[in-house]
Amino acid sequence: MADPTQPRGPGKLAPSLMCADFRCLEADIRALEAAGCEYMHFDIMDGSFVPNFTLGPDICRAVRRMTETPFDIHLMVVRPEEHIARFEPRPGDCVAIHAEACVHLQRTLRLIRDGFGARPMVALNPATPLDVLDYVLDDLDGVLVMAVNPGFAGQRLIPGAIRKIAALRDRLDRSGYAHVEIEVDGNVSPENARLMRDAGADLFVAGSSGLFLPGVPIPEAAARLRAAIA
Ligand code: DX5
Ligand code: ZN
Repeated sequence: MADPTQPRGPGKLAPSLMCADFRCLEADIRALEAAGCEYMHFDIMDGSFVPNFTLGPDICRAVRRMTETPFDIHLMVVRPEEHIARFEPRPGDCVAIHAEACVHLQRTLRLIRDGFGARPMVALNPATPLDVLDYVLDDLDGVLVMAVNPGFAGQRLIPGAIRKIAALRDRLDRSGYAHVEIEVDGNVSPENARLMRDAGADLFVAGSSGLFLPGVPIPEAAARLRAAIA
């Protein structure tokens, strides 16, 4: 059982591949691996839960052939339980489902863990209170806190998200769930990442705000983010 009085391990990076350069995706993947990114983050959108479409099972399968890095699959879809299998999650992967999109949240988290051996995560939109987690804390390995409204890259941080991360960390540590990780997604710039880290975030979805920056090589941008989340 993690000890909340002990310092947490270093922050981890999960590059958001929807922000990668698809003209040279494999080269980006190699650079992300070389930068030691701990996960590859896939933003999956269905045009219904969020008003956008992005990545799908085919690109996941293609990236599986490019890297051994675990996947962090973020399902921004309604009825996620109907679609998880299509993304072929593996042990070591994370699968995040939205509490707002899933009628049977506890059963679906168990499906991710028991059915696929993957790490179940609950994703929360900015307005969703932490109370939705109260009866599934035993069924999840992490919580994905949206710092923007899901659906698009390039948005600005919703300031209340920092307070929400801190409140979540405190709630988890005080109730015997210090082992549950906090992931944050949206406008993770070096400056925001520092605030998010200080508030208690462990895993950072890095997209157009801090990693895929025009004219900035991935290794350089990754190093800057790493320094902010150390
Ligand atoms: C929101 C998206 C974005 C993206 C990261 O649904 O998931 O958070 O991954 O992109 P930036 O860094 O532009 O927020
Ligand atoms: Zn995401």
